[in-house]
Amino acid sequence: MKYIIFNWKSYLNLKETISLSKIISNLPSSKKFKLVSSPNNFFNLAIKSRFPKNTLATQNIDFHGSGANTGSMNINHLIENKIKYSILGHSEVRSNFGDSDTIVKIKLDLCLSHNIIPIVCVGETKDVYKSKKTKIFLKSQINKIFDKSTSYNEVILAYEPLWSIGTGLTPKIDEIEEISSYLSKILKNYSFKKINILYGGSVNLTNISDILNLRNVNGVLVGSASTKSDFIKYFK
Ligand code: 13P
Repeated sequence: MKYIIFNWKSYLNLKETISLSKIISNLPSSKKFKLVSSPNNFFNLAIKSRFPKNTLATQNIDFHGSGANTGSMNINHLIENKIKYSILGHSEVRSNFGDSDTIVKIKLDLCLSHNIIPIVCVGETKDVYKSKKTKIFLKSQINKIFDKSTSYNEVILAYEPLWSIGTGLTPKIDEIEEISSYLSKILKNYSFKKINILYGGSVNLTNISDILNLRNVNGVLVGSASTKSDFIKYFK
């Protein structure tokens, strides 16, 4: 079973979100894929009734709890509304809202204590990739986010090279496998009930089969392609 996570970012309005949700809800159930949809945070509740249990994600959470926190995305509301997943540390959240690895770590701990499955995004810049320092970079990023003395429940780690997001560029297929296998190796130094490593960045109909065939890749996190009905229909 491979995870397929649709990150609709802020691409779709409510009508478009509902129409895509209808296509997803009409797909036959599959043993090969576990589909999780992450609509813009405003729309989770509007589409929830169309989705089976535990198949929706928020695109972020906040670490401010209940109370006088204007603008907060309170994790308690995910629990109250039975939303099981949250993307953490997406590169656009890091660049638009200043989330650092330290903040991602705080949010990760919050997910653990609230039984939310985090989809933690990591990835290197083009410069790091070009200077062949991807592994060193990712090791340090993981070290800042995860704690060796914590026992984590299920965690999804999405390897999303920043230079690949929204550009049409991807690492070579054997590089994706090599990095995923490396991530799987270094994550053995930490304790997880379940850990899945996903690839994200310019996944589309042309490259998805090759990526999903990789042994060490447990799924994909897809942005713009996942807003297209043709792409969704791949999973039927
Ligand atoms: P694209 O698939 O549009 O490159 O975006 C990837 C991404 O950011 C998924 O979280």
